[in-house]
Amino acid sequence: MKLADNKATLSFSNGSPKIELPVYSGSVGPDVIDIRKLYAQTGMFTYDPGFMSTAACQSTITYIDGDKGELLYRGYPIEQIATNCDFLETCHLLLYGNLPDVAAKAKFTKTVTNHTMVNEQMQFFLRGFRRDAHPMAIMTGLVGALSAFYHDSTDINNPEHREISAIRLIAKMPTLVAMAYKYSVGQPFMYPKNNLGYAGNFLHMMFATPCEQYTVNPVIERALDRIFILHADHEQNASTSTVRLCGSSGTNPFAAIAAGVACLWGPAHGGANEAALNMLEDIQKMGGVSKVGEFISQVKDKNSGIKLMGFGHRVYKNYDPRAKLMQETCREVLSSLGLENDPLFKLAMALEKIALEDDYFVQRKLYPNVDFYSGIVQRAIGIPTSLFTAVFALARTVGWIAQLNEMIGDPEYKIGRPRQLFTGSEQRQVVPIGQR
Ligand code: SDX
Repeated sequence: MKLADNKATLSFSNGSPKIELPVYSGSVGPDVIDIRKLYAQTGMFTYDPGFMSTAACQSTITYIDGDKGELLYRGYPIEQIATNCDFLETCHLLLYGNLPDVAAKAKFTKTVTNHTMVNEQMQFFLRGFRRDAHPMAIMTGLVGALSAFYHDSTDINNPEHREISAIRLIAKMPTLVAMAYKYSVGQPFMYPKNNLGYAGNFLHMMFATPCEQYTVNPVIERALDRIFILHADHEQNASTSTVRLCGSSGTNPFAAIAAGVACLWGPAHGGANEAALNMLEDIQKMGGVSKVGEFISQVKDKNSGIKLMGFGHRVYKNYDPRAKLMQETCREVLSSLGLENDPLFKLAMALEKIALEDDYFVQRKLYPNVDFYSGIVQRAIGIPTSLFTAVFALARTVGWIAQLNEMIGDPEYKIGRPRQLFTGSEQRQVVPIGQR
């Protein structure tokens, strides 16, 4: 970051001395006012719950222009990555800052492939869960449990440990998600196959059985690979900020990523894809497209507490570019499966059209986000609704790791420790219970 030719001056109406705060610029996007010395100079904190106007770090990984609806991974537009790269190339880009050439890609792919198996003991963690446990409850447990198996790579300050942990997490997430699914349907776990690609291996572990040969559908494989790309990273969203704050204590990478999994589960965040599909199914049960108007009225009624899941975004005040790509992927998969007339897809597009013409949504700049269409395409592939967020976590793991490693690699980083505006009781004396 570089000092801008601008300064912020803070003055106080009560005559307290005004202070000057430096302003810094990045390569693109809003400048920042450096308030690191504010408390020392004024005895006051800033107040920004939800971090609406707060930059928690500087980063070189992902940039979003919310007004234009643009998303760049290391400077490359998501549209170009989604059409010219695969997920492992994207992982290489996010982790190391550049797209691999043929040789680097082959080396990275081989390294990841050789780490896709998990310790056989992991199966016994699963056996402790009920068969109907939510996959995100299982994933929160399994990812944290990985730290119990890799004592050789838990020192987050050791670059080699960070590197091998990154590879292990990227490689093992598909295996763990597939194991969570197989456990829920009472089928045997399927081991990864080294001759399959990343997305194809996941499909095989999810849908193959020991009873017959399973052939990966290339159209589905490509679609799933693109879904992984679209979910890979997204600046300082809630789960990424959780991973950064968790990792800032020096805990091991597996524990920090497990914290990200737990945060992503929430319906306001990664859990929205599951909630969006359940919402579409509810509207379908109510009567489908003919009931969209009635549903939209409920959403606009603040007392209903109903939100249009898969719509709205803290940063995008224009169309989420990932939603456009996801809608295209939806179309490709549905037509390749002969489901062009999938009622839920038609319902989603009708809902989007009506919402985008309704003043309530237009005024609030509410557009479809990445979660609006992702459930429809995952459902068409055969992934159960309850597993959607686990698939999101699978894909987001590389972004979490890249962001964590960027923080740890920054010599300026400190343990994150926000302050507060205290509005509770001032000091008072304890009265013995007999006199209360
Ligand atoms: C993800 O941060 C990221 O980058 C996240 C993510 C990533 O890749 O990591 O992009 C992934 O989490 C996408 C978002 C998925 N969540 C959903 O689809 C859930 C539904 N969306 C909302 O919960 C909401 O839009 C949020 C949480 C996404 C954003 O909330 P904000 O920025 O805090 O906005 P807000 O709640 O202040 O809303 C502003 C107004 C409010 O109305 P008013 O009080 O001004 O009258 O818009 C309304 C809200 O009630 N509103 C909605 C709405 N989202 C916002 N009204 C109906 N339906 C919605 N979905």
